[in-house]
Amino acid sequence: MSRVLIVYFSRTGATRRVAAALATTLHADVEEIIDRSDRSGTLGTLRCVLDSVMGRSASIEPMRHDLSAHHMVVIGTPVWAGRVSAPVRAGARVARDAPAPAAARRIFLHARRSR
Ligand SMILES: Cc1cc2nc3c(=O)[nH]c(=O)nc-3n(C[C@H](O)[C@H](O)[C@H](O)COP(=O)(O)O)c2cc1C
Repeated sequence: MSRVLIVYFSRTGATRRVAAALATTLHADVEEIIDRSDRSGTLGTLRCVLDSVMGRSASIEPMRHDLSAHHMVVIGTPVWAGRVSAPVRAGARVARDAPAPAAARRIFLHARRSR
């Protein structure tokens, strides 16, 4: 088991690619946040925007990794309406509440639209 865990959510694959590249570089474990909401299509996009604007978090599946066992947790999220995506809002709460080793670090990565 690595001391570094990358936790991410990705709706369309960009954050997944960044997470995979970082995991290779850091020899890190990877945990994908599984969202229980259907975010496909136009209605799904609308749900993303509404959740973000309202500051709602999503219902997600339990994580497979024990977050308290990792010294560093890197969290990757798409940016939705200028904010952290709803599934990552839920995942970050799990990371925050997990007991962490002394001097543990939690780092956020925000995937934005390319300009
Ligand atoms: C509903 C929605 C809202 C978005 N809002 C923003 C935004 O405010 N700023 C931005 O830079 N990108 C925004 N984006 C673009 C995504 O953050 C960007 O495409 C991201 O790389 C997607 O990551 P993913 O492929 O891992 O889901 C938005 C995308 C969606 C679907």
